[in-house]
Amino acid sequence: MNAYNWWSFGCPESTSGFMVAEVEDQLVGVQPMEIMSYKDGSRNTKGGLLTGVAVHPDYRRRGIFSDLVRACEQEAWRQNAAFVTTMPNERSRPGFLKMGYIDLGCRQLLLRPLAPRAIAKKKLSIPLIASLIGFSAAFAQGIVKPLSHDGDLPVTETSDLEGMVAQLEESTASLFPGLRVRRTPSWWRWRYLQSPARDYSIFTATTKKGQPAGLAAVATETRDGLSTAYLMDIAVNALESLPPLVRKILEVLSQRGVELFCAVTSSDAMSRALRRTGFWQVPTWVPVKRFYTVAKFNPAVETQIAPQWRKMSGWYQMLGDWDNV
Ligand SMILES: CC(C)(COP(=O)(O)OP(=O)(O)OC[C@H]1O[C@@H](n2cnc3c(N)ncnc32)[C@H](O)[C@@H]1OP(=O)(O)O)[C@@H](O)C(=O)NCCC(=O)NCCS
Repeated sequence: MNAYNWWSFGCPESTSGFMVAEVEDQLVGVQPMEIMSYKDGSRNTKGGLLTGVAVHPDYRRRGIFSDLVRACEQEAWRQNAAFVTTMPNERSRPGFLKMGYIDLGCRQLLLRPLAPRAIAKKKLSIPLIASLIGFSAAFAQGIVKPLSHDGDLPVTETSDLEGMVAQLEESTASLFPGLRVRRTPSWWRWRYLQSPARDYSIFTATTKKGQPAGLAAVATETRDGLSTAYLMDIAVNALESLPPLVRKILEVLSQRGVELFCAVTSSDAMSRALRRTGFWQVPTWVPVKRFYTVAKFNPAVETQIAPQWRKMSGWYQMLGDWDNV
């Protein structure tokens, strides 16, 4: 007899926990879920975010994952969430689609090589990657040069977020619209400063008058032999603040020997803004990792669901929304 129980914990502003599956007092499966505040313009709502599900290898293909997800949905609907969403991998995606989740589409992958020659040398055995990087580097250099006189902002690396987030959240939400997790100061602290998983670098930019102009969280790791950085989140007071902030981050990452800078976003506006700083958007036909998002809407509040939330372009997601980095 399988038992499914909800263990809560987590981010101060969310009701979070694990749905756990037990068979004869043995823990055989776990599905974490954060129930968080979301907003889209002036509309506030609540949504459940499912993160890395795992079922013990000896207990797979017995419906445990499906039961865990259904139990999470019941918990989310009980807490008045309007939807449950997740970013599945190739293994879990078929199961979610079978359970009636809507495929919202893929988030866009953007790359900015910092050491194109070193990358090409390391990855030359993979001709596709080498040619992508060569093309990307040439493209990036062509674009970034004209932008090098687009103004400057004092940028510092800090762990002091106070006052920054609250002031930048609103402008960022209107520059890059879509249904988004409300990124409050305590969300930023919980997600980046208090994370037990890794250290994030936080960059802040201020205007010449000392007002908040930009904020970004960056993670670094070595992946597939390449020193790789990830743009987890970025918030700005105006579009013009984004290039100088990114330029400064690139400078710091280059000094640290980072070879590749990656961003993943659902937002066309963010994609455009990053391309202006020399990021290259990987076309969908390139056979690299796919960043899927799926969602199921609460049938009890169907009329409150905005039509644009059924497509990826109606959401605002960055790598910070995903728990794997
Ligand atoms: C993915 C995972 C959670 C599935 O757990 P599970 O309890 O075996 O899944 P279920 O028995 O509920 O399967 C439900 C449906 O999902 C799909 N599915 C499950 N495992 C699959 C697999 N390996 N390949 C393809 N489809 C799969 C099938 O459609 C399945 O229905 P079916 O058995 O009637 O064909 C499990 O394989 C796992 O823990 N994998 C490693 C961790 C992981 O990759 N997690 C995903 C992180 S996002």
